[in-house]
Amino acid sequence: MKYNETNITIRTENARDYNHIDTIVREAFNDSGVLVAELVNSIRESSNYIPELSLVAEKKGTIVGHIMLSHLNLDDNDRVHRVVTLSPISIKPEMQKKGIGSSLIKAAIKKTDALGEPLIMLEGDPNYYLRFGFKPGKEFGIGIALPHWAPEAAMILPLSKYNQDSKGKIIYPPYFDKVNRPPHTR
Ligand SMILES: CC(C)(COP(=O)(O)OP(=O)(O)OC[C@H]1O[C@@H](n2cnc3c(N)ncnc32)[C@H](O)[C@@H]1OP(=O)(O)O)[C@@H](O)C(=O)NCCC(=O)NCCS
Repeated sequence: MKYNETNITIRTENARDYNHIDTIVREAFNDSGVLVAELVNSIRESSNYIPELSLVAEKKGTIVGHIMLSHLNLDDNDRVHRVVTLSPISIKPEMQKKGIGSSLIKAAIKKTDALGEPLIMLEGDPNYYLRFGFKPGKEFGIGIALPHWAPEAAMILPLSKYNQDSKGKIIYPPYFDKVNRPPHTR
């Protein structure tokens, strides 16, 4: 039976959470978990880290999910815009499909909008992200180099401060290379 997990608190991460988050990321992503956990650390150590947009979901004081949004560049040849990407999101395996991922995504969208960011981009399954208002990147003139087997995965959510200047090509920081950038898309 499907049910909504209501007994969840969402807050920003702090240094005491890092080990717990590391475990959840590794478990959620199975075989690629080590690489995704490294990605989380790399983002934290970079100037693209946005502390307000790295959130944990807690149930009875235990962390059961994590979401991270960070900056990357959108290059339109004339200028480089700094935009926000959502990656990764990780829910403890036994706590998946209870609405926790949805709660984290909705909270992150609200906070990103409040920071005055124009948009959020991500690579993900449209079946999941369409429900939050994400739309195909091509509708916005935003190019994301994707592998041929995932042409629909580039998704954009325009926020209150969105304007049509926000277009161009997404430039991933190198620390994303290991997790989702097959060599031919770099
Ligand atoms: C993907 C993930 C974040 C979703 O969080 P969640 O708390 O399990 O999801 P919710 O309970 O909010 O939503 C459940 C819905 O999402 C769908 N869903 C869950 N994972 C999905 C996935 N990887 N792709 C597509 N849809 C997915 C479920 O089928 C369900 O759909 P329904 O409402 O139509 O029945 C979580 O399952 C997870 O951590 N997965 C492993 C790591 C991962 O793949 N992260 C995403 C890539 S960055």
